[in-house]
Amino acid sequence: MFEQLTAAADHIAAATGRESHDVALVLGSGLSPYAASLPGATTVAYRDIPHFPVPTVTGHAGHLASAEFAGVRILAFAGRTHLYEDVPLADIVFAVRTAVAAGCHTVVLTNAAGGCGDHLGAGDLVLISDHLNLTGRNPLMGPNDERLGTRFPDMSEAYSKRLRGLAREASAESGVPLEEGVYAWFTGPTYETPAEVQMAKRMGADLVGMSTVPEVIAARHMGAEVLGISLCTNLAAGISPVPLSHDEVKEVAMEATDRFTRLLDSLLPRLGAEGRS
Ligand code: HPA
Repeated sequence: MFEQLTAAADHIAAATGRESHDVALVLGSGLSPYAASLPGATTVAYRDIPHFPVPTVTGHAGHLASAEFAGVRILAFAGRTHLYEDVPLADIVFAVRTAVAAGCHTVVLTNAAGGCGDHLGAGDLVLISDHLNLTGRNPLMGPNDERLGTRFPDMSEAYSKRLRGLAREASAESGVPLEEGVYAWFTGPTYETPAEVQMAKRMGADLVGMSTVPEVIAARHMGAEVLGISLCTNLAAGISPVPLSHDEVKEVAMEATDRFTRLLDSLLPRLGAEGRS
């Protein structure tokens, strides 16, 4: 794994002409247009990067973009791999691990999710404050490579309070409202049943979704600071009076692109080239 990550990071450095990057940005369902909107972005297809997994789901592109924005070198990933593709968890976290190997000290993860918190509605952007891993799977299962990180990583502040504070500043500056909530990870690809949504809600979840958590775990394992932002595309099953559809999820995500872009444009310069103080 370590050698594969180094090869992938080396390829990205050569293809983008940037020896190192500062901030990784993983773009979820329907949010990938942001990568192309970064000024002067150089794109690299996932299939050209050694060992890099290529996602199979529609609505998920398969390239990354490298750009310098307000002095911050950004590696934006348009498209990710999910557990429901039945690939090893090592593949699912490969992009984030590559980004950290490529120098990123900060990892911003975005996704589309269903809302079950009483304060949430369709179209809301939500800062993830913590997560529930309901899959019984963990990307760190198996032998630990100490070159990547410790065997037993602390998760008491998986989603950095400091970065959440910066996101709140960006929200105030951009005028894009941000809610906050706990994200529960399900395997998918089915949407949850109403009973599963009620279970997650009673356990403390405000959001239900099929991604992000393994990437957060891998990023924390490697010592990066993490920020998570969900777009609540729909009320979760049973809370929504209508059946869920992927088309609706994509449509709401597309409608939110402009707000999301304004928030990120204000947030990314705050994440700094120098990293954690
Ligand atoms: N459940 C899981 N994943 C999702 C949902 C949902 O309701 N909406 C968007 N992604």
